[in-house]
Order: sequence, then structure tokens, then C-alpha cells
Amino acid sequence: MGFSGEGKIWLNGSLVEWKDAKIHIASHVIHYGSGVFEGARCYGTPKGSACFRLGAHIKRLYNSARIYRMEYRLGAEAFEQAVLDTLRANPFKSCYIRPIIYRGYEALGVNPLPCPVDAAILLWEWGAYLGAEALEKGVDVRVSSWARSAPNTFPSLAKSCANYANSQLIRMEASMDGYAEGVALDTFGFLSEGSGENVFVVRDGVISTPPATASILPGITRDSVITIARDLGYEVREELLPREVLYVADEVFFAGTAVEITPIRSVDRITIGCGRRGPVTEQIQGTFFGIIDGSRADTRGWLTYV
Ligand SMILES: Cc1ncc(COP(=O)(O)O)c(C=O)c1O
Repeated sequence: MGFSGEGKIWLNGSLVEWKDAKIHIASHVIHYGSGVFEGARCYGTPKGSACFRLGAHIKRLYNSARIYRMEYRLGAEAFEQAVLDTLRANPFKSCYIRPIIYRGYEALGVNPLPCPVDAAILLWEWGAYLGAEALEKGVDVRVSSWARSAPNTFPSLAKSCANYANSQLIRMEASMDGYAEGVALDTFGFLSEGSGENVFVVRDGVISTPPATASILPGITRDSVITIARDLGYEVREELLPREVLYVADEVFFAGTAVEITPIRSVDRITIGCGRRGPVTEQIQGTFFGIIDGSRADTRGWLTYV
């Protein structure tokens, strides 16, 4: 999954070659995690490449920056245009989009305010995050021994670089124990989310997912799943869920830009439902993939054509 090293990167308003997109080692973000970022995707469709819910991603980026008192010199609308310009300057038909706003080079001390607010937009080709097979067969996960951060520690609504120190602990623990991913609880013991994705549970035809108050990043894919599922006639609840609901669920699945919609076939070595993708997951996945590949009508205006 290494980088090809090809293509152009947008760096504070200029398009530069991948190899030239460098910042100084004394930049604040490197030492103190003072950055906020996004992960979006652009998909190839019969009508050309299209970004999925780009406006929602840029809005969340600017909200994350606001929480951390970072005001970038471009407004959200101009930044969205910059993403489209970057896509047009690169050859990818489908790719992952990584915008980042961060504290740059000026002085090193915990206080970030003296440092400039800089930004970059990177693109690269990135396939199925947990493997193409996982989309059908599902993945094995464990409940992490690491909790998500408590609400009064790190703001989970901000997609901040610093939050991903916790995500890395969850992900490394899972990988080293032979699982595809970890699912974390919040500090009250309720179900929260994976290291980089939200989680959904299906029981008796009702779909549940932890609420924003369970230390989750409220995902844009999560919101899309809720919308699609309600359109399909399902009852969807955002509610606090105990860990053990995972073990007795009919279906469990992840939702996120990187994993898209990936079924979970076991949790802590307990088989979920039939041990592979269940029918509700398949139906929601089918609708989601239909919208992003252009084979279904985009009735909600989720696609922005490049
Ligand atoms: C911790 C975490 N939760 C949830 C998500 C899912 O969010 P989205 O669907 O907006 O990609 C992500 C991915 O960005 C994430 O990193």
C-alpha cells in the first residue's frame, strides 16, 4: 500500500510535484499533532470522476479547524475548489483525497498560536482498505483494550491528527493479535467505533449505531448509511449500545470513507450471524456502491463531478 510517488500535491495554493511537497522538521504539527484533516474519495463513473459528499467533508474540515482555533486563509468554498483543481491536475480516475490544515513553522512550544496555519491536499490511489474480499466475506475484529478518549479530553467531533494516536494503539493491538481491526468502547464502557470507521449493528431488522456522545467521529459514510437505510424502510436508531450487543447481533458492519461498507463476521472470535455478509448489510452496500459508481440515481446530490 506504499505511495507511487506520482502526481501533484496542492501546498498552500501551489501545485507541486509529489517529491517536492516538503515542510520543515520544526513545524509545530510534527511535534504536537496540531493538524486537522479529511479523508474523502473520488470515484470513476460513466459520466466521469466524481467526489462523494465533498462539501460535507470540507465542512467537517473547517469545523475541526474551528475547534482548534485554526483559521486558514481560504474559505471553505475556495478550499473545495482547490480540491477539484488538484483532482484536475492529476491523472487519477478514482482516488483517495486527503486535505490537511496544520500548524506550520515558526516556533516550538505547546502553544500553537504563534505558528502559521498551512494546508495541503494530497491524492493517491487507494483500493479497499481492509481488502477487496472483506467487502463480501467480512472481517474478524476484537474489542480493543484501549478506550476512545473521554468527552472532556479530546474532542471526537474534530478529525484531529492527535486523535489518531489513540487510533494507532487500537489498530496495532488488533493487527498484532491477528485481527483486521479493533472496535473501541468509550470511557463509560459503551460501544464507540473502530480505529478509523463507525460501527453499525443489525438486530431483528432494526439498525443501531452509537450516538455522537459515545466519543465517535460522526462519519459522513455513517450519515449516508443512516439515510440509505431509512429510505429503504429500516428503523435506524442512534443509541448507546453495550459491548455484548455485538456478540448477539444478526449483522455488524463498519462504515467509513476508507472501508466504505465492510461486514464484520466475528468479534472476539464469536461468529456474528451467518459468519459472512448478511442480507441487510448487502442491501445497504448495494445501494451505496450503486450511487458511487453512478449506476443508481444520485437523488441527494452526493456526487460532485470533477
Ligand atoms: C475514527 C473515525 N471514525 C469514523 C470515521 C468514518 O468517517 P467518514 O465516514 O466520514 O470517513 C473515520 C474516517 O474518517 C475515522 O477515522
